[in-house]
Amino acid sequence: MTWMITGGCGFVGANLADAMLAAGEDVVILDNLSRAGSRDNLFWLQSRHGHDWRFEPIDIRDDKEVSRCVRDIRPAVVAHLAGQVAMTTSLANPRLDFEVNALGTFQLLDAVRIHSPDSIVLYSSTNKVYGSLENLRYHEKPTRYEAADYPDGFDETLPLDGSSPYGCSKLCAEQYCRDFSRAFGVRTVVFRHSSMYGGRQFATFDQGWIGWFCGKAVEAERGAEDAFSISGNGKQVRDVLHADDLVRVYRMASDRIATTAGKIYNIGGGMANSLSLIELFDRLERRVGRTLRYRCGPWRAADQKAFVADGGRALADFGWRPLVDASTGLERMLEWSREMQPQ
Ligand SMILES: NC(=O)c1ccc[n+]([C@@H]2O[C@H](COP(=O)([O-])OP(=O)(O)OC[C@H]3O[C@@H](n4cnc5c(N)ncnc54)[C@H](O)[C@@H]3O)[C@@H](O)[C@H]2O)c1
Repeated sequence: MTWMITGGCGFVGANLADAMLAAGEDVVILDNLSRAGSRDNLFWLQSRHGHDWRFEPIDIRDDKEVSRCVRDIRPAVVAHLAGQVAMTTSLANPRLDFEVNALGTFQLLDAVRIHSPDSIVLYSSTNKVYGSLENLRYHEKPTRYEAADYPDGFDETLPLDGSSPYGCSKLCAEQYCRDFSRAFGVRTVVFRHSSMYGGRQFATFDQGWIGWFCGKAVEAERGAEDAFSISGNGKQVRDVLHADDLVRVYRMASDRIATTAGKIYNIGGGMANSLSLIELFDRLERRVGRTLRYRCGPWRAADQKAFVADGGRALADFGWRPLVDASTGLERMLEWSREMQPQ
């Protein structure tokens, strides 16, 4: 089976490509290597799997090149992961955000519709399509916010509201996925991801908060005493999902395409793997044996006080639930952060 992975040199893509190559599948990666770390992931994949797979240095906005690839390859599955991924960048450059996420996704879908209508298309959307969720009721507890009316997390019926250019461009893209399924029969599946983390993630202040703060913990472990900044009061909550579990999402949903086609799934670590920043810092401090010093800054635009995915639909439709608990995942993430910061 051929997997075409757009953004395949990013964090999610590199993990997915690695798993598919290890399983003996054919893999073609389309990536413009615009993300810091993508080139390292390309070399990492080559070091593990030789040149037994194909890399296309293509920008997802390049309609002609994307069409050429889809026409030539006619992949069994397209995992569409290439994207502008940071909320902050979408505010600084909303046109870039729109062109990459919304227009790029449309062009890819249209290429599939015309040249490879039997391909399955799996799209990585985001919980940001639900917007800031500012109108919900929250309980403020000592270390976290809790959404008072959603004790099991949010399912897919939560009202949509982009709230930011990033939220809008991803919402637009996922709606095209869903409607290319309804209008043209293209077999699309949308995943609304919560926070994800794991090896091959080159986190920044803007994106990949688990990785970013694991990096800060490793710096503290090695003697750094500077305080770092956080946005808000640290009580904001996310459910976190390890890379191993998200690879299983893509594989399992495509295996059950008769059920999953045209559907949208909230995908995250769930309530059992939910963490606030303060709770994360506490766990990290115990692991590295140092106190983490931080100062609170203004809240980010459209930041959600709490988001935890209710994964009931994914469990019912394709039998997926997360298997890597947050403690195990954090331990692995710390190891990766130590590797990334050689002494
Ligand atoms: N990581 C998370 O926690 C998270 C959460 C929600 C949604 N998502 C979504 O999952 C997808 C993958 O995320 P990730 O964490 O792997 O991000 P990433 O930044 O690590 O990877 C994205 C990849 O896409 C490539 N890319 C960016 N713009 C491109 C363009 N114009 N043309 C071709 N390639 C381009 C980058 O070079 C990079 O290799 C994204 O669409 C993101 O919006 C991620």
